[in-house]
Amino acid sequence: MNNAVSSAVAPEIPTDASAAPVKAALGAFGGTMAATLDSLLPQSDGPESKLFDAMRYSALGSGKFIRPYILRTAASIFDVPETQYLRAGAAVEMVHAYSLIHDDLPAMDDDDMRRGRPSCHIEFDEATAILAGDALLTLSFEVLASVATHPDPQVRADLVMALAARSGGAGMVGGQMIDLESEHAAVDAALIARLETMKTGALIAFSSAAGGVLGRAGEDAVNMLETFGFELGLAFQITDDLLDVEGDEDDVGKKVGKDAEAGKATFVSALGVDGARHEARRVTDRALSRLDMFGERADELRSVAEFVLARNN
Ligand code: IPE
Ligand code: IPE
Ligand code: MG
Ligand code: MG
Ligand code: MG
Repeated sequence: MNNAVSSAVAPEIPTDASAAPVKAALGAFGGTMAATLDSLLPQSDGPESKLFDAMRYSALGSGKFIRPYILRTAASIFDVPETQYLRAGAAVEMVHAYSLIHDDLPAMDDDDMRRGRPSCHIEFDEATAILAGDALLTLSFEVLASVATHPDPQVRADLVMALAARSGGAGMVGGQMIDLESEHAAVDAALIARLETMKTGALIAFSSAAGGVLGRAGEDAVNMLETFGFELGLAFQITDDLLDVEGDEDDVGKKVGKDAEAGKATFVSALGVDGARHEARRVTDRALSRLDMFGERADELRSVAEFVLARNN
């Protein structure tokens, strides 16, 4: 990751047309995922109802649901039943939604817009946004630990362990800390790779590995899927960095140009737009190489990886 990037030859980024089938599949899956989340998120007319409204507002907005989709696609290699991958997908999406609520807070990235709507703390208030994040995080573990997610308690324990490890200080939250500490700092590409792999790669690593855990795949297969996810997640964050510079506000549903304004250390700030694009391609190719052991059964997962490079939101 720290080696110099050669930009003599334009990287082969798939066109939007080649991403269209995955985009359509994501759209169809999104309806099912939203229904699953809807059934798992609490509702109440009681005195805590504002909290539940904020949780639902953030978890059911127009997200892409790419993490649950990756989980489903990895699970499909092992013929995992739908209920199992939808519940595990809901759990990771809850952690993701919480991470975005907190990421947008004034103390962090201070973003007013998310998914084309006011951020949670703007629609509600800061205290409610903090609590909605807290409650989404804890609910995710309740969902994973439930017998409905998998009949085998060892599988449930493995999922809980993996999500805790990927979400916490050695994963997403740790990456967010480095991200904030790196603002306006001289940071090299190796540290940026580390922070992006942690803040974004970790939850995607959980998603791909969880497909194997649910399918009781062997340790080698689960580890390979996890490595794939970390690398794909890094590529996903590099394209997020690119979209912040080149994306359209209506497509991405959030303000653009905010990374440079905040002095964020990103692949674009370190390598420029072309360098970042090359790096995204290179990291994706490395991720793809992890899927060799699964043969044709991983073709859908390969398409998701190409989609990540071509995405416009
Ligand atoms: C945005 O994630 C934040 C990152 C980790 C890059 P997504 O691009 O998956 O956001 P939604 O869920 O589709 O809104
Ligand atoms: C967010 O990274 C990563 C998270 C863990 C939430 P960004 O700060 O770049 O995400 P956006 O651009 O606000 O969606
Ligand atoms: Mg951030
Ligand atoms: Mg942000
Ligand atoms: Mg961003």
